Amino acid sequence: MAATAGSNGSLLEVRDLHIHFFTGAGVVKAVDGISYGMRAGETLGLVGESGSGKTMSSLALLRLIPALARSSEARCASKARTSRPSGRTR
Ligand SMILES: Nc1ncnc2c1ncn2[C@@H]1O[C@H](COP(=O)(O)OP(=O)(O)OP(=O)(O)O)[C@@H](O)[C@H]1O
Ligand SMILES: [Mg+2]
Repeated sequence: MAATAGSNGSLLEVRDLHIHFFTGAGVVKAVDGISYGMRAGETLGLVGESGSGKTMSSLALLRLIPALARSSEARCASKARTSRPSGRTR
């Protein structure tokens, strides 16, 4: 993955993300080249039929895809930072 976000004001850029599972029965292309980006203040929703790769593509951003899978040709970069709300939780 290459860190290139921010050059155009974006917070998140995903370019040409592939996630393939190398199983005993062959290669499963869970994600086959998606690209998207987000700017500050925008809300992004992933919509698709069951099995279309919503969960796997999101897990890839967190580097949490299963060991069986490989992410390739991905360019993902983020300037976003996570934070916890201050104060006590109920
Ligand atoms: N452990 C695995 N081994 C092999 N292939 C897998 C595995 N997990 C997921 N896949 C493949 O990745 C594809 C995408 O799965 P993913 O869970 O990302 O879909 P999804 O869009 O989140 O589906 P849903 O709407 O049902 O949650 C699946 O259809 C399946 O073919
Ligand atoms: Mg899912």
